Amino acid sequence: MVSAACSNGTAPVATETLSSPDGKLSMTFTIDAKGTPRYALECDGTAVLTPSQLGFEMRGTVKAEEITYDGARPGKVDNRPPYSLHDGFTVTGVERDSFDEVWEPVWGEESQIRNHYNELLVHLSKDGGDRLLDIRFRLFDDGLGLRYEFPGGQKDSYLCIKEELTEFAVADDATCWWIPGDYDTQEYEYNECRISEIASHLRDKMRGNSSQTLFSHSGIQTSVQMHMQNGLWVNIHEAALVDFPCMHLEADCARHSFRAWLTPDAQGYKGNVQTPAVSPWRTVQVARSATDQLASRLVLNLNEPCAIEDVSWIHPVKYMGVWWEMIAGASSWNYTDDFQSVKLGITDYSSAKPNGRHGANNEKVRSYIDFAAANGFDAVLVEGWNIGWEDWANCDKDYVFDFLTPYPDFDIEALNNYAHSKGIRLVMHHETSSSPRNYERHLEAAYSLMNRYGYDAVKSGYVGDILPQGMYHYNQWMVNHYLYCVTEAARHHIMVNAHEAVRPTGLSRTWPNLIGNESAMGTEYQAFGGIAPGHTAILPFTRLNGGPMDYTPGIFEPNLKEWCGNDSWVNSTICGQLALYVTMYSPLQMAADTPEHYSRFPDAFQFIKDVAVDWQQSRYLFAEPMHYLVIARKAKVDGQWFCGGVTDGVKRTFKVPLDFLEDGRYEATIYTDAPNAHFRDNPQAYNITKLDVSAASTIEVTMAPGGGFAISFKKK
Ligand code: NOJ
Ligand code: CA
Repeated sequence: MVSAACSNGTAPVATETLSSPDGKLSMTFTIDAKGTPRYALECDGTAVLTPSQLGFEMRGTVKAEEITYDGARPGKVDNRPPYSLHDGFTVTGVERDSFDEVWEPVWGEESQIRNHYNELLVHLSKDGGDRLLDIRFRLFDDGLGLRYEFPGGQKDSYLCIKEELTEFAVADDATCWWIPGDYDTQEYEYNECRISEIASHLRDKMRGNSSQTLFSHSGIQTSVQMHMQNGLWVNIHEAALVDFPCMHLEADCARHSFRAWLTPDAQGYKGNVQTPAVSPWRTVQVARSATDQLASRLVLNLNEPCAIEDVSWIHPVKYMGVWWEMIAGASSWNYTDDFQSVKLGITDYSSAKPNGRHGANNEKVRSYIDFAAANGFDAVLVEGWNIGWEDWANCDKDYVFDFLTPYPDFDIEALNNYAHSKGIRLVMHHETSSSPRNYERHLEAAYSLMNRYGYDAVKSGYVGDILPQGMYHYNQWMVNHYLYCVTEAARHHIMVNAHEAVRPTGLSRTWPNLIGNESAMGTEYQAFGGIAPGHTAILPFTRLNGGPMDYTPGIFEPNLKEWCGNDSWVNSTICGQLALYVTMYSPLQMAADTPEHYSRFPDAFQFIKDVAVDWQQSRYLFAEPMHYLVIARKAKVDGQWFCGGVTDGVKRTFKVPLDFLEDGRYEATIYTDAPNAHFRDNPQAYNITKLDVSAASTIEVTMAPGGGFAISFKKK
């Protein structure tokens, strides 16, 4: 390692090493004669990352914009010379620390999480102390976190990032699972290839989106899962994304290396920092097996403890919704077809002709409430309840919704009273149409309205390009917006589920009222052309690494043409859908299909009614990213065990050992695809069997192509 560095003229002049608590991971920090900081990572003596650069290229900080005139037109020159925060450094000090705690999340995959690491803080200085940068490393048994700290007391207090240069030089040409780098959307299917092949596969699974900004032929998003040729499983992501742009990665395919690629603002700059400040953590998880990666809590551990003192109002939610029928096309969000263009406050809805397809009408909402209450659900989401849906999307319209005024056929007070009388809460819906300034203007009134009627959860959404134009879904300004909504919601005792927002980075540890995000391709795409089987076997490694997803599972009728004339097909089986309540962890789980469809399969629906949404323990039994997953979980409230498995397009059989069960006998109810089931030709064929089992038993299950299985255990 050192001799290779010497031949590049990058021989370390100072070296610091850091070991994980179990001594198996080792991180080496070096600085070379040019003052360039680097880090490298090993596991059991095997290289994970070879020496990788650290630091930033900064925009100059002297304000000197010059107006020019070339005889034809005036121009503007930015005279701020960029400067380096990546070389010329000397190490002025190091500090070391260790930490070991067990903390209890408000909700989660387990009720107790150990946070155990060794820490190294390196103080760097250049230009006689005018420029300072600290780098903090935390090494856990399951990987590394590193972050930059911008100390106060240096020459400039206001810094502007031109480029983050953090490298992740993966030691071999690993197989990786990734989605294209995009400043605006994560709604993609995953690719599987070697790092060296990323550029040649970028277009393989390309799909249009109402807001989409690809930045490079070899750019990808995090969290990216990798399987190295040396056998290690490695995942790169970030933790605690606060007041900073979201990090993507630019692959250097030839060197199988990545460099941080921050999301720019409208001017192309990549983050403003007022010292003292810290960056989010850059995370490199290292696991010996795919199942160990799923058990890693490193991203959560690098977030700050809970910031909410009284969390008694935060709770898991199992819900239904007036939703799938709109997504699939059977009904509409808008109330009328009379208006091509709506001006809120001017357009008169009282005399508008209803289109007869409006989903969020009193009668329909009542029927969903009845069904949800009769089947033990907590809540019902209603989309399209508020005025403005006639011209909401892709109109670059600032004042697009007021989040306050119901359509004439949605009686907000009566429906909430009705819901509450049946033990159901309505879930509020705030589609912002990516007009965040308008949303912030209305936020206090909108959350107060929720408080007035007894809503305690909101699903928000950011469809379309961000206004003001030039901003992106994942830049610093928007990252701050999403968190502002969550912290304001906490003041109002409101739980948030934000769709199309930046992907999560473990912030739900600090703000557990952030109970869900979409930020990936969810079930809605089964109605927009379908999703290839295997998608739900990669998401737990990647998207869910930062926090739960509102995946909206539970579609029992895959043939959309039959009931709403939609040509799309849901590429799954009924048992494949049941499995997702176990394999896709979320404290917010939807039964997304309609009451009519569930009523046709009451025995399979029983699993959705029974399954828990918050867990004491999780066991990851079998996994191969994008191919299959088998997970068992123990419910937090009553200790009941559940197990689920999903497969890609391949039929698979597993012998599931039940050694996770406690002593005693259990009745296992097993929901399996029928032998002739198939996600395309025979998705609704399943068998339900009951077995008397104990911890010594093994259950053999076969999953159909695109299918899955689910098991609930009842202690005898
Ligand atoms: C996209 C969201 O993902 C979906 O769930 C929602 O129904 C629509 N936007 C409308 O807000
Ligand atoms: Ca979406």
